[in-house]
Amino acid sequence: MKIAVVGGGSTYTPELIDGFARLSRVLGLAELTLIDPAEDRLNLVGPLGQRMFAREQHPGAVTWTTSLEAGLADADIVLIQLRVGGQTARLSDETFPLECGCVGQETTGAGGLAKALRTVPKVLEIAEAVRRFAKPNAWIVDFTNPVGIVTRALLDAGHRAVGLCNVAIGFQRTFAKALKVEPSRLTIDHVGLNHLTWERSVLLDGVEMLPELLANHAAELEEHTHQSIGQLRRLGSIPSYYLQFFYRHDQVVREAATTQPRAAFVAQVERELLELYADPKLNTKPEQLASRGGAFYSEAAVDLITSLHTNRGDRQVVNMRNGSTFAQLSPDAVVEIPARITADGPIAEPLAVLAPLEAGLISHVSAYEQLAVEAALHGGRDRVFRALLAHPLVGQYEQADTLTDAILRENKAHLAWA
Ligand code: G6P
Ligand code: MN
Repeated sequence: MKIAVVGGGSTYTPELIDGFARLSRVLGLAELTLIDPAEDRLNLVGPLGQRMFAREQHPGAVTWTTSLEAGLADADIVLIQLRVGGQTARLSDETFPLECGCVGQETTGAGGLAKALRTVPKVLEIAEAVRRFAKPNAWIVDFTNPVGIVTRALLDAGHRAVGLCNVAIGFQRTFAKALKVEPSRLTIDHVGLNHLTWERSVLLDGVEMLPELLANHAAELEEHTHQSIGQLRRLGSIPSYYLQFFYRHDQVVREAATTQPRAAFVAQVERELLELYADPKLNTKPEQLASRGGAFYSEAAVDLITSLHTNRGDRQVVNMRNGSTFAQLSPDAVVEIPARITADGPIAEPLAVLAPLEAGLISHVSAYEQLAVEAALHGGRDRVFRALLAHPLVGQYEQADTLTDAILRENKAHLAWA
């Protein structure tokens, strides 16, 4: 089988290649093709991928191309992992909302909307090419942020797509390490929207471990969530790192005044990584990759692709249509929940109803996401303004107006309609 990675020139790609090199013999992977407009990056990441496959004696080929048509030809699975505008656009997303005292983040709040506006049209264009050139039933696995919004747009356009994020698998690994058990023994009840999730239950061989984690593993939980154990204990569920942008919003904004934006740090790491990738002796993923947020993303991708391709039917957390899962949300909403992964796609697992603490924010942000998709598809100042007004972290006329102007100003080069 063939896997195509759109955005394959990313510095993250060796993480993915590492996953396929070590973990995916069951797939019978004959070809992994990296597609990217940046030829210079492909010429570094591609050969490194070949060396990594050779080191693990993987029989498959790693190839690369700048042509979407050539790369997608006959692909069974297409992974999309791109960042329109690169770290430069991300730096803008992380800083312009601060003008209004709003959090600057690449997937949350006004920054996330800016990213959605740049990204949705591009991903839909690629998905059309998947329809034309890949195998007829090819699956799209979307890693491209904001994953919830992008997946919703893909599904609305009728594509066979599943959205993926590493937050759930990251929690599973963190809990497993704290409890000193194999991750596969843990079943987590993970609910919400992409980058707006809570872990409501952590079962170890069927026994509830959430109270034990909250009582005796403060350091691990604080490090993973960026929220204090005192706060976590009052919730009774464990919110992801991204919930700090809601629950500690003003504090995060204050901290931004004295800390380097994440984009600047990541740009530096990327420069170092590309230098390392150029070394013809390097045949493993370098340590520095661990400083990126995408830890375990290769495992999540390999797990999902394997199950989609082999109809494994195991339980994994994915982004998919809400359907009838949460009564508060429209069936068309995209939610991040555990599902059984089959060759026909994910089948949602039955879940307990949402508690008001989670339900309020989820409903609010889901409505924003619907407006964000509309703004990304049809453009126009008013649609951007309405999405911002609907976002719980903006929500006022004055801020929504100022931030709309900022989004249009900052993203002119990327928005066909602006
Ligand atoms: C986590 C999120 C991803 C995000 C990444 C950012 O992995 O789930 O959606 O892209 O962090 O990591 P970075 O190292 O670029 O800040
Ligand atoms: Mn994510």
